Amino acid sequence: MTAVDGALRIGPHVLPSRVFLAPMAGVTDRPFRMLCRRFGAGLVASEMISADTRLWDTPKSQRRRDHDGEPSPRVVQIAGYDPAMMADAARRNVDAGAEIIDINMGCPAKKVCNRLAGSALLQDEALVARILETVVGAVTVPVTLKTRTGWDPGHKNGVRIARLAEAAGVQALAIHGRTRADMYTGAAEHDTVRAIKESVKIPVFANGDIDTPQRARAVLAATGCDGIMIGRAAQGRPWIFDEVNYFLATNELRADLPLEKVRDIMRAHLEDLYAFYGDATGVRVARKHLIWYCQQRSGTDSLRRNFLRLETAREQMAALTQLRRSDAIEGAV
Ligand SMILES: Cc1cc2nc3c(=O)[nH]c(=O)nc-3n(C[C@H](O)[C@H](O)[C@H](O)COP(=O)(O)O)c2cc1C
Repeated sequence: MTAVDGALRIGPHVLPSRVFLAPMAGVTDRPFRMLCRRFGAGLVASEMISADTRLWDTPKSQRRRDHDGEPSPRVVQIAGYDPAMMADAARRNVDAGAEIIDINMGCPAKKVCNRLAGSALLQDEALVARILETVVGAVTVPVTLKTRTGWDPGHKNGVRIARLAEAAGVQALAIHGRTRADMYTGAAEHDTVRAIKESVKIPVFANGDIDTPQRARAVLAATGCDGIMIGRAAQGRPWIFDEVNYFLATNELRADLPLEKVRDIMRAHLEDLYAFYGDATGVRVARKHLIWYCQQRSGTDSLRRNFLRLETAREQMAALTQLRRSDAIEGAV
């Protein structure tokens, strides 16, 4: 809830900023979440994990549930279709240290939707209500919901979903301004997000295509939302949270980060990835982050190609020196 002092709260948690990192499977692992928190993200959620606890024994699932050393509040996102399974998954995550349970009804991915989970659930409002009520009743920590504006452009039932979520005791909503049928195409629309915000008293966060400080401010103004979530624009630019926070506070744009600083961020990020995943997987995960960092700068085509073929942590670290000053002068794209 937004308190009288203006601070944004979810349950007992006072959030340091109203600009959050959107959960992204394969991206928002613990090293990336901690990096974004350091740059001022007010809240970061884990990559979605299945509510089916039988799937939790794989190394991938175990890593997704690893929140060691993360600052509070630790948010775990679960996805599923069965109320009892979802409740059990929520309970077990809280026992393991989750301080907020986020329910994913926003993911359009086929393997989730085939089982009527993620955003496919929006077709069945009674089931949505049962899931939310059961999960809220199963845990003592706040439960939040991340969803889309509706099932398809002809069925934007986001307002009804928001109301039933509030009635079920959900404490905050994040709304991606697309329907499930939109997948990631077209521009996110924020009129429905505004209607959702106006229909409930719990905090609502707008999400979708927010990629600059100016856009962040425009979406906050257009939707009246309490906060915003940034996903893809944080890839290769985790400092976007600082840029947006600064702009919202001062109405001024931060200067571009100096090249040395960017390199330090990349180096520390790589070290965290190798430590978290081990060298072999760490190199693979690092590769995509390196490409994203390069995409922020012009003149990095050959470096990008180089990163694609490097096989070891040592080679990746050494290649960071090839990120040259001339790139910085050409500036970010
Ligand atoms: C690679 C990728 C993985 C994602 N995984 C999740 C997820 O695990 N849970 C979720 O709720 N949304 C997931 N999303 C959706 C994002 O959280 C977000 O809603 C979407 O990307 C729109 O925001 P953006 O335009 O700021 O990226 C994912 C998106 C991407 C691109």
